[in-house]
Amino acid sequence: MNTRNIVMVDNLHKIYGSGEAKTNALNGISMSVKEGEFVAIVGTSGSGKSTLLHIIGGIDNSSEGKVLIDGVDISELSENEMIKFRRDKIGYIYQDYNLIPILTVKENIYLPASLSGGDVETDYYDQIVEELELSEKENVFPNELSGGQQQRVAIARALINKPDIILADEPTGNLDKENSEKVVNLLKRIKANHKQTIILITHDYNVAKEADRIIRIEDGKLENE
Ligand SMILES: Nc1ncnc2c1ncn2[C@@H]1O[C@H](COP(=O)(O)OP(=O)(O)OP(=O)(O)O)[C@@H](O)[C@H]1O
Ligand SMILES: [Mg+2]
Repeated sequence: MNTRNIVMVDNLHKIYGSGEAKTNALNGISMSVKEGEFVAIVGTSGSGKSTLLHIIGGIDNSSEGKVLIDGVDISELSENEMIKFRRDKIGYIYQDYNLIPILTVKENIYLPASLSGGDVETDYYDQIVEELELSEKENVFPNELSGGQQQRVAIARALINKPDIILADEPTGNLDKENSEKVVNLLKRIKANHKQTIILITHDYNVAKEADRIIRIEDGKLENE
């Protein structure tokens, strides 16, 4: 494996709200992830996992500390640079899917490619859609899908641009065992083929154990630190 750190997180703090509503969601997290590595993040509900992933993906800002992606401090990017960076480098699977309700399944999956103006290999699209068992749902809208189907659309959308980094927030949270295994196998194969780096949050030990490394978060800190 390459030894380059593609993601470096330095002393990250996140405070939400103020006064009585103040929550210290992250309390000084430092970690790094190597290019091509598959890291699972585990921890109890409310421990700060989604907050950490949002900040790594440039979706939210930290209160203190730094995130370097490929050596670039993402807090120093302009708004436009950040949009381009997210679009080109990151595939994000949101915990609540974030599908666009007025777009069909196919349009949702193609969205990152449409936005970046890049071509998508039809074969690659077909392969993902088939593997995620969405072929029969391509022309329906998200509100006509089950939770697990919506989740699989969100996964397909995150993969379509072959991003360098896949940030997956409980991508199998709504799937049964068989579909969870399929998703994990798909991620692992994509990683093997395209050397993608995967940071994946999960509550499922069967998913976490497939990762190269498991990171545990408790109360906004890495455990054992
Ligand atoms: N937008 C927000 N405003 C205020 N507090 C927030 C916000 N988002 C998260 N928090 C708080 O920050 C803490 C960490 O939340 P986070 O969503 O990162 O947890 P999590 O580990 O992803 O939990 P889960 O496993 O339930 O998804 C929690 O105490 C939560 O209440
Ligand atoms: Mg979460």
